[in-house]
Amino acid sequence: MNSKHKLWGGRFTSETSSLLEHLNCSLNIDRRMYAEDILGSQKYANALYKINLLTEDELQSIHVGLETVRQQWENDTIEFQNGDEDVHTVNERLLKEHIGKPAMKLHVGRSRNDQVVTDMKLWLRSAMQKLESLMLDLIQVFTERAASELDVLMPGYTHLQRAQPIRWSHWLLSHAWNFKADLDRLKSLKPRCNILPLGSGALAGNPFNIDRIHLAKELGFDIVSQNSMQAVSDRDFVLEFLFWCSLTGLHLSRLAEDLIIYSTKEFSFVSIDDSFSTGSSLMPQKHNPDSLELIRGLSGTLCGELTGFMMTIKGLPTTYNKDLQSDKEHMFKANDRLTSMLNVAIGALRTLQLKPKNCKAALSYDMLATDVAYYLVRKGVAFREAHHLAGQVVSLSEEKHISMPELTINDYKTISDIFESDIFNIWNYENSVEQYKVIGGTSKQSVIRQIKFLEQYCNNINNS
Ligand code: ARG
Repeated sequence: MNSKHKLWGGRFTSETSSLLEHLNCSLNIDRRMYAEDILGSQKYANALYKINLLTEDELQSIHVGLETVRQQWENDTIEFQNGDEDVHTVNERLLKEHIGKPAMKLHVGRSRNDQVVTDMKLWLRSAMQKLESLMLDLIQVFTERAASELDVLMPGYTHLQRAQPIRWSHWLLSHAWNFKADLDRLKSLKPRCNILPLGSGALAGNPFNIDRIHLAKELGFDIVSQNSMQAVSDRDFVLEFLFWCSLTGLHLSRLAEDLIIYSTKEFSFVSIDDSFSTGSSLMPQKHNPDSLELIRGLSGTLCGELTGFMMTIKGLPTTYNKDLQSDKEHMFKANDRLTSMLNVAIGALRTLQLKPKNCKAALSYDMLATDVAYYLVRKGVAFREAHHLAGQVVSLSEEKHISMPELTINDYKTISDIFESDIFNIWNYENSVEQYKVIGGTSKQSVIRQIKFLEQYCNNINNS
């Protein structure tokens, strides 16, 4: 397309290279914001009318024209042209085709620099709303399972080695709390996304004293930006969103990793439903946890979106530079990817089959060695000494090739006189977990407390 016909073509004499046109064109990506772009234009037209830069007829004509453009997007009837650079230029061209001259007045004092970042904030605001409700669904799956599977005991791990018995529900909720923190963090991004950049022009501001406060109200923003140069170059809200997606992705990945391990034949604590597994084209017996592996793998590429865009921002001179155009690609990709990951995580978790017998069977008495130390502490022994004595009980049982409950009282007495016959009461996994009644512990009442807290948290959000 001859540059003369471009929005910015007044001073150009020769054509834009098709090579540059190709690289410069962002339409396939930013067309996703057509509705936000039209909304911004509608409100901007109202603001221009208020300061007498549009007549009532021109305003009406712009509104009718913009509505027609919206219909064209919705009905997929737009014929794109070679020179269509981005969603803003397409909307402007179409409006001009529909209504002629008044379209040329719409952009007075407005630049694509303040327009694009306004569109992005509008788009991100509704995307974050959808993510918020997915996060809620996820937390609710955890709390529902935790409530119905409260009695299941299993080994808890540190270093992936058997550590202490815990409730399965305690493990479930350990992940739910991460997602609760993620949801809190997502909400905390909103105020920074809700600062209106429109009215900043290309970089210096708006020369017609457009009512930005009113514009902000009309577009649902809380406040307006206070420095036009900062406003057109600020993409921190994108970076924060990308970081949020990355962190939530990491939490999903760690959940996935646990479940992949728990679903192996060696563990067999859970089985991933067929609907979230795949088989092997060669080995007929295979039942692979692809859903969880994809989540684990894709969480890495989410971090890539964040670091990639951080590198774009690093070293940019003040205000708008075309480097910024890739912002939308990162934002959309991260949003879409995380949305799919959340949906799959919700589905896989909801349909997961728990095998309570296998969980219990994996418990072994050596996991109660700490309880031997606690037994001694309750009889007045200092913990470090008690730990040492309990260690001797472990090694005596290993020497004798029997489990600790099989040692006789005399065996115990050879280690310490403090042991009495009530030592045999500790060999009970249920009693063991029930010791942890502290807030945050794995006893039934502590886990119920967590469930109630998270249920209330979800209800409050649902009702707000
Ligand atoms: N498509 C551009 C972007 O997304 C719009 C802003 C263009 N501004 C400019 N000064 N060339 O970044």
